[in-house]
Amino acid sequence: MIQHHNQMCFATLEHPEPWSLKAYESVGGYRVWKKILAKRPPRRDLIEQIKSSGLRGRGGAGFPTGVKWGFMPDCDESYLVCNADESEPGTCKDRDILRFNPHALIEGMAIACYAIGAGTGYAYLREEFGDEPYRRFREALREAYGNGMLGPDIQGSGITVYLHDTLGAGAYICGEETALLESLEGKKGFPRFKPPFPANYGLWGRPTTVNNVETLALVPGILREEPGWQVGTEKSRGTRCFSVSGHVSRPGNHELPLGIPFADLLELCGGVWKNRELKAVIPGGSSVPVLPAKTMMELDMDFESLAEAGSLLGSGAVVVMDETTDMVRVLQRISRFYFQESCGQCTPCREGTGWLYRVLTRIVEGRGEEQDLEILEKVPGRIEGHTICALGDAAAWPVQGMLRHFRDEFEHYIRYGKSPVSPA
Ligand SMILES: Cc1cc2nc3c(=O)[nH]c(=O)nc-3n(C[C@H](O)[C@H](O)[C@H](O)COP(=O)(O)O)c2cc1C
Ligand code: SF4
Repeated sequence: MIQHHNQMCFATLEHPEPWSLKAYESVGGYRVWKKILAKRPPRRDLIEQIKSSGLRGRGGAGFPTGVKWGFMPDCDESYLVCNADESEPGTCKDRDILRFNPHALIEGMAIACYAIGAGTGYAYLREEFGDEPYRRFREALREAYGNGMLGPDIQGSGITVYLHDTLGAGAYICGEETALLESLEGKKGFPRFKPPFPANYGLWGRPTTVNNVETLALVPGILREEPGWQVGTEKSRGTRCFSVSGHVSRPGNHELPLGIPFADLLELCGGVWKNRELKAVIPGGSSVPVLPAKTMMELDMDFESLAEAGSLLGSGAVVVMDETTDMVRVLQRISRFYFQESCGQCTPCREGTGWLYRVLTRIVEGRGEEQDLEILEKVPGRIEGHTICALGDAAAWPVQGMLRHFRDEFEHYIRYGKSPVSPA
């Protein structure tokens, strides 16, 4: 993994055992938590600090974290849930935070519990993390309990925080926060209708805050006023873990200031592999609209710039595609994923995702018909915004993005029964 300046989530990487308590303490870890234990500041003060830091959720939607914490009512039973389901194709940063800096997440969870008034927090890890990420996180939890950072009446402070880990069963939909809560309760991972939102009706019907791993791991460094946070743009503050994959020479996770030009990010990854030309980029995980090379090469990687260009920063997963990429096949593959992962509760998503996948398969197999383009244009609009959860939108946006920028490839496939792109 390439290392950069301004690291927050990956601050311990230079240590021989970056996942250990020793490594975390050597970069100032648990200082904020110990101060909270000693001084017991009003929880609303911490929320205000997080609000003014400009931290926005790293799970996909970019919702302001302090505002979300502020929704939590004062009550005697509430919960924090850390979303470590990380199943959006292309995304692999939470996995590395769990593997290389689990204590940053634990301290972030403890602080968040205190700020929202919760005595218990759960980290929900996807089943596929059962090996190293889960083991490292478990071991770090054990160390934190053993060193008096968690448990009842911590260090005589009167503060009680219990943190638990739990493994899912390997379903993309369980990353959606309400499906995750259902799964944590031991039920099928079906998203709930919103409202009520989790801050009112969450885990076991109690007020709950759900935050992403990266969001929570950033909290201690922000409150320590690390220089790493003093970067980014006015509305997109701090660093972001970009998971870069696809046709680059050096794929991997790169923690960098928000607002970095895409051209610089590409260069850090060794450029497009095999001296080929850049064709397109999916800039925020498979569910966000694709953007063509020309747009990307002039774009900065922050929430606002990507939205203005017609896409999203999403989960921070940057999928790079070179000139030999068959965009119709890429879309067929993405559509298969959403078809397979739809939970089936709502008709537009259950039927629409299957419809899209079947039409795309027909086109790829050289059996496309003139009206297929019309179907690809209409169906996403009937799914988007008409479903219980945003998986429906996630299935619709990639189709809309591909047609917007690469329509000629779909037309060619339908007319000649094959791809316009010569295979690499
Ligand atoms: C289908 C679907 C899958 C999702 N998967 C994840 C995930 O794996 N990890 C995650 O943090 N958020 C995921 N989200 C977003 C969560 O619902 C939620 O917004 C997020 O965990 C909030 O954390 P944040 O405010 O820190 O970003 C997903 C949303 C949808 C609709
Ligand atoms: S949009 Fe899809 S995944 Fe979400 S609840 Fe409806 S059927 Fe399930």
